[in-house]
Amino acid sequence: MVLTVEETPEHGDRVVFVRKGEFAREGVSQEEFEGAKLSTLIWREAGRRIIYVGLGTGPVTADLLRKAAGTGVKLLRKLGGEEIHLDCTAYPELAGFAVEGALLAAYRFEDFRMPEARKKSVLRAITVAVGKGGEGHARLEVERSTIVAEAVNYVRQVGNQPANIITPASLADKARELAAECDLQCHVLGPKELEEGGFGGILAVGRGSDNPPRLIVLEHRPTDGKPIVIVGKAVTFDSGGISIKPGEHMDEMKFDKMGGCAVLGILRAASRLGLRVPLVGVVASAENMPSARAYRPGDVIRSYGGKTIEVLNTDAEGRILLADAVGYAVKHLDPRLLFDLATLTGACIVALGRNRAGVFTSDSDLRDELWRLGEMAGEPVWPLPLGEEFEEAVQSDVALVKNVSGTREGGGSVGAAFIQHWVGNVPWVHLDIAGPAWVSREVPYLEKGVTGFGVRLLTRYLLSLATQEPKP
Ligand code: BES
Ligand code: ZN
Ligand code: ZN
Repeated sequence: MVLTVEETPEHGDRVVFVRKGEFAREGVSQEEFEGAKLSTLIWREAGRRIIYVGLGTGPVTADLLRKAAGTGVKLLRKLGGEEIHLDCTAYPELAGFAVEGALLAAYRFEDFRMPEARKKSVLRAITVAVGKGGEGHARLEVERSTIVAEAVNYVRQVGNQPANIITPASLADKARELAAECDLQCHVLGPKELEEGGFGGILAVGRGSDNPPRLIVLEHRPTDGKPIVIVGKAVTFDSGGISIKPGEHMDEMKFDKMGGCAVLGILRAASRLGLRVPLVGVVASAENMPSARAYRPGDVIRSYGGKTIEVLNTDAEGRILLADAVGYAVKHLDPRLLFDLATLTGACIVALGRNRAGVFTSDSDLRDELWRLGEMAGEPVWPLPLGEEFEEAVQSDVALVKNVSGTREGGGSVGAAFIQHWVGNVPWVHLDIAGPAWVSREVPYLEKGVTGFGVRLLTRYLLSLATQEPKP
């Protein structure tokens, strides 16, 4: 994809944004097109198409421009457009977000479609006009947004692969490839190292599968100092194990790896952006399957570092993987701040719907900042509580903790309270992305499938840190 920033539109099909009531073209009545939010009009002029996309009357936000650009690009793509020009002359300060929407809308997962079913149009170039004077700032924002959007599309490309393609081993291969391309250090622990190291949680979850687990560590260390660590859950398929899930929608559990996939994307973006922030990603990957070797309800396991877990439901496997991965991060990586990203609980979807992730942290400033960045990034989050009542809910009679509470109440917070046992005193944010990790119907700038949720939010967070801190 060629991306250039210019003063005025030069060639190709154009996407033009229109405020409601401000559209005036001879031959088009207000009834036909008045500029209502995300409505479109196709116009032809001198052999080029112009797609007008309505912005409505409300404030023009980052996310509105992302959606409007996505809507225009999707439509042009369907019509066979190959070169698309975004006219951002009226909104140069938001040009980066328009580009993000355009690049996200341009991605399609077509690996397994038969050739005749593949979309004919191949988008070759996107150009952006920002008008006189807007170029300096806009160019930087467009460059950043391009890197972020490409990282999201990378995550979507890995994440959309089914579980017969992406196993813990092949995910580790992807991480190694990424490290080679992006100048990251990569270190993978396989079943033997996990056994020797005492990673009883990851091993227990993966024991029922013929595809053995991995712990993947990816490092971006442009400077010395304590890193930000992001831990991700990557269950390549979650059947529930012996506590098997109902059949309906079980196929979607190939997407239970998205926390870990997002971690790969964040490392990719951090490296490409040249962020001068030490960052480590830790991805715990296993396949949760029932078999004669599988772990069972009633088993008691020893996690990394020795804390014991009573397993009462093998479908609450994510927290068991995270126990080992967080325990490892806290012991070896000395994090200044620890995030974990996981498709952890259905309860979080019940609480917040499918658009928002649950954010759990005791740092109220950080919680507010993540809320603000989430709105801007188009990856919204909403706080859910941590608290003693949830810690009590996971107290076990036979081990340090049990992996389920026995009721459905406050399920998201129960999951968080479980993980907290391995966090110790490290500043920590848990993001439950079960709702927004994938979409079952199209949204303006995304097709059905995984969304890459977390990449835009956490990359924006890292960018805000990097710009606050003086460069050496
Ligand atoms: N991967 C699921 C959570 C999930 C459910 C993500 C639906 C996305 C959509 C997780 O491993 C799980 O099964 N959690 C259980 C926990 C319960 C047994 C305490 C759940 O949410 O039902
Ligand atoms: Zn599960
Ligand atoms: Zn799961």
